[in-house]
Amino acid sequence: MKILMVCLGNICRSPLAWGIMKQKVEDRKLDAIVDSAGTSAFHIGDRADKRAKKTAENHGIDISAHRGKQFVTEDFDNYDKIFVMDESNYMEVISLSRNQEDRKKVDFILNQIGGKKNDIVPDPYYGAEDGFEQVFSLLDMACDKIADSINKKINS
Ligand code: 4NP
Repeated sequence: MKILMVCLGNICRSPLAWGIMKQKVEDRKLDAIVDSAGTSAFHIGDRADKRAKKTAENHGIDISAHRGKQFVTEDFDNYDKIFVMDESNYMEVISLSRNQEDRKKVDFILNQIGGKKNDIVPDPYYGAEDGFEQVFSLLDMACDKIADSINKKINS
């Protein structure tokens, strides 16, 4: 299973989602590859936001290897699932899709945890540091569900 986490800047939410998912894949020895990208070109080559790095570190996760990338159409060929954080990410990714097969791969990451359909992971970039902790907690729940579903596939 190849998973791509997508947000706008690729320095806050999707690097956190990548780090969290990568950790679960390692811990549970799952057969999965995880990466992240942004719909914008704002932070290509950049490290994760310091607040995202610190929040990950507080939970024992190292995202210092992260470098910003922009989502490209070829990512539809390279990944099985593309998880977005909000409507704007969704629309941007869908706008690059070529067919129904591509579009089927895209979903809001919080649809993994049930609750309100297409709920969003709020952008913490312009907010206070505790916003990152809230984002971490939402993403951790979602990644747990993703890990469970990969596990089921392996064991079935
Ligand atoms: P992200 O947050 O999409 O969670 O990485 C943002 C980071 C940077 C910007 C916007 C959102 N920006 O405008 O530079």
